[in-house]
Amino acid sequence: MITGTNRGIGLALVSAFLKDDYQVFATVRHRENCEDLNRLQEKKGHGQLQIHEMDVTLESSVGNTFQQMNLQTSRLDLLINNAGVYPENGDELFEDLNPEWFEKTIQVNYLGTVRVTRHFLPLLKNSPKASVVNMSSGAASITTKEDGRRYCYGASKAALNMFSRTLAAELKSSGIIVVALSPGWVRTEMGGPNADLSIEESAEAIVKTSAELTMENTGQFLDRFGISGKYAW
Ligand SMILES: NC(=O)c1ccc[n+]([C@@H]2O[C@H](COP(=O)([O-])OP(=O)(O)OC[C@H]3O[C@@H](n4cnc5c(N)ncnc54)[C@H](OP(=O)(O)O)[C@@H]3O)[C@@H](O)[C@H]2O)c1
Repeated sequence: MITGTNRGIGLALVSAFLKDDYQVFATVRHRENCEDLNRLQEKKGHGQLQIHEMDVTLESSVGNTFQQMNLQTSRLDLLINNAGVYPENGDELFEDLNPEWFEKTIQVNYLGTVRVTRHFLPLLKNSPKASVVNMSSGAASITTKEDGRRYCYGASKAALNMFSRTLAAELKSSGIIVVALSPGWVRTEMGGPNADLSIEESAEAIVKTSAELTMENTGQFLDRFGISGKYAW
């Protein structure tokens, strides 16, 4: 299951998992504007790719989607919390930041991930090998923080990292792997046109890494290739 899949890295992840014959549950905030995703569904079939509407900021939306999916599958092997927002430009001074951006980034990037994971945990617990991949960012790093930029986005992803590490510790005895993973700097609406990677390059690496995760990885902050230590906490 992947969240935020109508565009960007989420869309490329759906495509890459389908190429490897996974059965994919793709969630989108609005069912409109999903032409690329719809095309993938026409090509692969509704059994292979199921699309659900889910706004990760709304408790009722996440709860309803869980109810629907619970009728369609008895387990989830992998949850990728990909949906994210970056409302600031990144270089605003503290005084120039819109307070709503702080709330929005926390609501989507942090609480959205917490909410989705909490609802879908019962399905993950039914899998013989389950993993949760939380899409983080180098901007989450407190250790390497030296500029006065990205207040809202950075704080929300740092909170996401703490959630990932805490949940990993709790779920270790259940055998569920939880990691924070940075996809690299990717050419999307969020990453902009000058980023290093195409969505396909990033997604291909993330699919391989997700498939190869082991309990040794749980609680780690990984790059897209599954390497720990490239990004500091
Ligand atoms: N691109 C990069 O360089 C980069 C670097 C580091 C980390 N990341 C992380 O990677 C993930 C994907 O980024 P991206 O570059 O693909 O971003 P993107 O192109 O801006 O796409 C963001 C996705 O999240 C969805 N979304 C936003 N708010 C949502 C909500 N309330 N409920 C459900 N879905 C919501 C969007 O749906 P709508 O179309 O409906 O808004 C869209 O599908 C994010 O978590 C981001 O922080 C990206």
